Amino acid sequence: MSFTVAIDGPAAAGKGTVARALADHFGFAYLDTGLLYRAVGRKVLDAKQPLTDTAFALKMAQELGESDLLRDDLRNMETATAASAVAAMGDVRKALVSFQKSFAKRDGGAVLDGRDIGTVICPDADVKLFVTASEEVRAERRYKELSAKGDDTSFEAVLAALKARDAQDAKRDVAPMVQADDAVLIDTSTMSISDALAAAVDVVSKTYKSA
Ligand code: CDP
Ligand code: CDP
Repeated sequence: MSFTVAIDGPAAAGKGTVARALADHFGFAYLDTGLLYRAVGRKVLDAKQPLTDTAFALKMAQELGESDLLRDDLRNMETATAASAVAAMGDVRKALVSFQKSFAKRDGGAVLDGRDIGTVICPDADVKLFVTASEEVRAERRYKELSAKGDDTSFEAVLAALKARDAQDAKRDVAPMVQADDAVLIDTSTMSISDALAAAVDVVSKTYKSA
């Protein structure tokens, strides 16, 4: 039986942390859909093609393989910015839809996180969460993460990149980042990770028990 949890929200809000922990807690599978767009963006950067080349980005999306998702350079800021550029292309998004939809419907339950999961990929998800936090808190979290990995960046640079990416993701014509009408909002600005997880488990438990 399938049971789908859709999680959306802006950059570094804690979506992945909550999604992974929910998947562990309930025994569901987890898909980080941002990785798909990051991998496409990375391939465009590696090929030194302009981030406006839709035909090339589409080819990269169509050829995406599992090993492309396992690279260790998908989490840096350059890749995130490239991901947001290719994610604004309707053809690229279309090429990635069927994989995400079938993942969502797999037996045993699935959690997916991204920007359009509750609105486009799984409009009928059993549970929808919109995880957010203030810009400053999110930039601080991402800055800490990047610094810990040895990335020589500043808080100001991370904040500026995060704001630009959120604006691009929210304003694009295709599948913009928006809270679905039936999504439960979790603002993690002042929450620890365990508080955020407890809030998410609480919401899912209400529906999962009766599913
Ligand atoms: O997936 P998304 O980009 O939304 O965020 P994430 O990668 O799950 O979280 C970004 C960082 O914030 C990670 O280092 C988390 O450990 C940290 N964090 C969090 O996720 N939730 C909190 N309530 C506090 C910190
Ligand atoms: O972890 P973080 O929130 O910083 O980013 P991500 O979830 O890995 O997503 C990277 C980029 O991919 C986003 O800025 C979006 O442009 C795009 N994305 C999307 O358009 N739709 C999704 N379902 C997931 C990601």
